[in-house]
Parts: sequence; structure tokens; C-alpha cells
Amino acid sequence: MKEIELALSKPYPSHTMQRWEIINNIIHRYGFKDYLEIGVSDPQWCYDNVICQNKDSVDPGVEFMPNPVKYKMTSDEFFNTIPKDKKWDVIFIDGLHVAKQVIQDIHNALDHLSPNGFILLHDVNPTNVWLQRENYSIDGINRQWNGTVWKAYYALRITRPDLTMCVLDTDWGVGVIRRGTQVLAPADNTFYDYNMFDANRVEYLNLIDGNDLDLFLSMSDKKLPGIK
Ligand SMILES: C[S@@+](CC[C@H](N)C(=O)[O-])C[C@H]1O[C@@H](n2cnc3c(N)ncnc32)[C@H](O)[C@@H]1O
Repeated sequence: MKEIELALSKPYPSHTMQRWEIINNIIHRYGFKDYLEIGVSDPQWCYDNVICQNKDSVDPGVEFMPNPVKYKMTSDEFFNTIPKDKKWDVIFIDGLHVAKQVIQDIHNALDHLSPNGFILLHDVNPTNVWLQRENYSIDGINRQWNGTVWKAYYALRITRPDLTMCVLDTDWGVGVIRRGTQVLAPADNTFYDYNMFDANRVEYLNLIDGNDLDLFLSMSDKKLPGIK
């Protein structure tokens, strides 16, 4: 690996909670029963660690050849296949990390989210410009990659007052989205420039400490009818 790439592919600085711990915390707290993971790769990485009564998995198998998922297809094909009224309580979006696809996945997920359900996203907080490049592979090799997930997330932060959103500052940034309300982030990064994102990431993402999930949930519960 070139020196610059090596320097830029350092681990995420603060590791408090892992994504499956966040997922399990939410499932347990609300007694949820239905979990969907979009983009699974090797299920040992996350999917197998999720404890939930009913679990569904989607992946076209472009990275991990055994691809032991229920739906061996892209997320777009999947959402075109399932019944319109099918709902999940937690939908973890971790498929193709390109903003246009992530936006599409979020919109489809919102259509299939139970009333008090959650959408979670991985890789929302790239720590340098290289990690948020468009292409996964460099010279045919898959390098550390967050992609442009942050751009999809930011697009909702500036346009959707009907959602409550935060990013937990752990495990490459875990985005949490639920119905509710939010004060919109400033829509001043017209060109989705990384340096501007870097200077404003706390506000753009509503970036909170990785240990503050419970606090975020308690505060945002109050914005929803029917949750005690
Ligand atoms: C980062 S890996 C998933 C990792 C796993 N969720 C975890 O937490 O460790 C991304 C996966 O998304 C899959 N993928 C790529 N394009 C996709 C698409 N259009 N729809 C769904 N999954 C896709 C890839 O095959 C790959 O296995």
C-alpha cells in the first residue's frame, strides 16, 4: 500500500460501542421483533451478533462469495420484490456506500419501517477525505472505505424536520434515524464539500458521544406518542 493510503486508513479513533451492540440495545429496549440488514458480507461481522426473533438479510454477494443471506439480490431488487405492507422495526443499511444508493435505501426503508422503528446506517463519519472517496477499490484492491454515506445522511439533516437523527461517534459513525422532529442542519454545504463537512461535522451530523445512545433515545421518545 502506498504510504499516503496507509496513513489515511488508520482505525477509527474512539471505540466505545460496536454497531451490533447499538442494534441490540434498541431491539431490547423497545421489545422489537423484526430486523432487516441490507449489505451483510460475512455475517460474523455483524448479522450473527444481532439478537432478534425474526431476521432478514439482503446482499447481492459482490464481496463475500458464500453470501449466506435470505435475499441474494441488490437492495433495489429486494424492495421491488417484497409486499408493500411488509414492515421491520430496525433496518440496518450497510450496502453500497454511494450517496445516491444510500438515499434510495433510506427512502425505501422509511416505506417499510414500523411506526416506532429505527433506521441505522454504518460509516457516516469519515475521519479523512480519502475514506469518503467514491470508489471502494484502488488498483483492484478493496481498501478501507466509508464512501459517501455522510452525503446521503446530510441531505436528510437539511430537508426532513419530520425525522429525529443523530450519529453516534463510534465504529465509523453509526447513524440513527427515527420518526419525530429535528432542528434542521444548515443547508450551507451546497457542493457537499468534505473540508466544510469536516469543520461542521458535529452540527451537520448531530454527532454525539458513542455512549450517549440511551440519552438520545430517552429524549427522542418524548417526541413520539405512545412510547413511555
Ligand atoms: C460493508 S459490507 C457489509 C458489512 C456488514 N453489514 C457489517 O456490519 O459488517 C457491504 C455489503 O454490501 C453489499 N452490497 C453491495 N451493493 C449492494 C446493493 N446494491 N444492495 C445491497 N447490498 C449491496 C456488498 O456485497 C457487501 O457485502
